[in-house]
Amino acid sequence: MPLHSNVKRVTTHVLHAMKLKGEKIAMLTAYDYSFARLLDQAGVDIILVGDSASNVMAGFETTLPITLDNMIYHAASVVRGTSRALVVVDLPFGTYQGNSKEALASAIRIMKETGASAIKLEGGVEIKESVERILSAGIPVMGHLGLTPQAIHKFGTYVVRATDKKEADKLKSDAQELAKTGCFAIVLEKIPAKLAGEVSGSIHIPTIGIGAGAEVDGQVLVLHDMLGITQEFSPRFLRRYHNLQAEIKGAVQNYIADVRSVKFPNENEQY
Ligand code: KIV
Repeated sequence: MPLHSNVKRVTTHVLHAMKLKGEKIAMLTAYDYSFARLLDQAGVDIILVGDSASNVMAGFETTLPITLDNMIYHAASVVRGTSRALVVVDLPFGTYQGNSKEALASAIRIMKETGASAIKLEGGVEIKESVERILSAGIPVMGHLGLTPQAIHKFGTYVVRATDKKEADKLKSDAQELAKTGCFAIVLEKIPAKLAGEVSGSIHIPTIGIGAGAEVDGQVLVLHDMLGITQEFSPRFLRRYHNLQAEIKGAVQNYIADVRSVKFPNENEQY
């Protein structure tokens, strides 16, 4: 029987066992109670409270403006809607890059105030000391390499990362280092599929890809993108499983028309 159909609660140990058995891991983002509940009931393994909330919930152009307080509000709501999936929360920009003490304090606030099970942060060897300090407090850490959106102003563009040897070699050694340090998984974002496959084969912890091909241990998409709530963002890697934007607009237009023509409420919809 597949592991994922047999667990009441997904833990980092379950994810590790899934990698060993070759079972793919399904991860999606969520930012609120209602969607988290639906995703959890549908059987997703990991819910990421991503700092993409900055884009899809708050309407900012980048992930940089979202605050730790904002993330805690979203994450606590998600945790209340979840009983099976592992909930991972992004440490937002500016809450861990300064030093490892600050990183630990941010991670502790997330764990204490949300009830989540793990945190995620972006970067390689540069953040190793912070990762070690957070891990030493007993907090599971997920890494994130490749296109790391908090560094968008350094990259200058959202194009595929690590296409040249130098960046690919650094990414490989960062992945090794994060795995050795004790991260329980690593997100690989928008890198060549071949490189992602090599990295996945070279480390003992699961890799979760987004725009990183099929040779990784799991996949993640931003919920609002895969449901078609957002339509402006259309990278090649994004598969839309629904066109909710059209459905929601249609439903709202029907409601407006019914209100204006006094078709709503009808006799059965009043007291
Ligand atoms: O913030 C986010 O949604 C993410 C995913 C794209 C992996 O980090």
